Amino acid sequence: MRSVWFFGALVFGVGLCSVGSAAKSGAPEVLYHYDYSRIQETDQAWECWKEGYRPSKVTSKKVHETGNGTAAEIERLLRFDQSTTVLFMYSSNSDNVNLRTKFTIQPNRLVRLSLDNAGLERLQVTFAGYENDCRLADLSVPRNRLTDLPEGIERLTSLRKLDFSYNQLKQFDLDRIGIADGLKQLLLSHNRLESFVASPRAILFSLHTLDLSNNRLRTLDSTLWTMPHLETFHVDHNRHLTTIGGWKKARFPLVKGFDPAGTNNWNQTWLKSVQ
Ligand SMILES: *[C@@H]1O[C@H](CO)[C@@H](O)[C@H](O)[C@H]1NC(C)=O
Ligand SMILES: *[C@@H]1O[C@H](CO)[C@@H](O)[C@H](O)[C@H]1NC(C)=O
Repeated sequence: MRSVWFFGALVFGVGLCSVGSAAKSGAPEVLYHYDYSRIQETDQAWECWKEGYRPSKVTSKKVHETGNGTAAEIERLLRFDQSTTVLFMYSSNSDNVNLRTKFTIQPNRLVRLSLDNAGLERLQVTFAGYENDCRLADLSVPRNRLTDLPEGIERLTSLRKLDFSYNQLKQFDLDRIGIADGLKQLLLSHNRLESFVASPRAILFSLHTLDLSNNRLRTLDSTLWTMPHLETFHVDHNRHLTTIGGWKKARFPLVKGFDPAGTNNWNQTWLKSVQ
């Protein structure tokens, strides 16, 4: 049974090969696994996202698909019509090192966008004029190869969750998302962050989770962070980090403290003074 299946797959692969451009070079075309869910909402009269929003059962339609596709097919999947889509969640369990995709977010359509391991190298939020977005609440793009925050990210005013973990960011400026004052989760672990900076304008009153673990931070200054509800703060695996400037228990009363035996290079004198 197994060999029959395998033979079938082989024939299928060869079939694809003969139509794909890779056929010319003789190499079999690589297939990538995908799994996505998408919700289309035809009623677009509502404007901004609100806490507790659910697409109406009457006017919405859900599609779920899983399979293996060529790079061209994955690119086509990512070019879905955003005009009526409120949710798009994509993930893949393939090695996507050789898949190169990009994605452009259109204003005031999506409520939730997740592109996990999609080979994403470029993400942009290009809006006409000075329009802001007040719908996108969850932007999750983990396990891609993004080196910068998307241009236009400062226009996403309704963000509740921003997940850029497992990318290649080198720096992060909190000011860029300071307008999203309802942000609850900021997940930046497993990047290459050497700097994480803020100005007094970045007031993240609702933030409860901040993950900066597994980066390359040597210095970190919390003096300008306004995050009174911060509760879960991960900063382990920044091997050269010795202190966090401006950290006081009174400013972050809900954070439990730091592991003295952890994976940073804590200055123990400093550590005792803030626990
Ligand atoms: C995709 O391919 C993998 C092996 O390459 C296979 O195990 C899996 O069943 C395929 N998935 C689908 C949905 O066809
Ligand atoms: C460790 O921290 C203390 C208190 O913040 C400081 O006085 C001291 O110079 C630091 N030690 C080193 C080696 O940086």
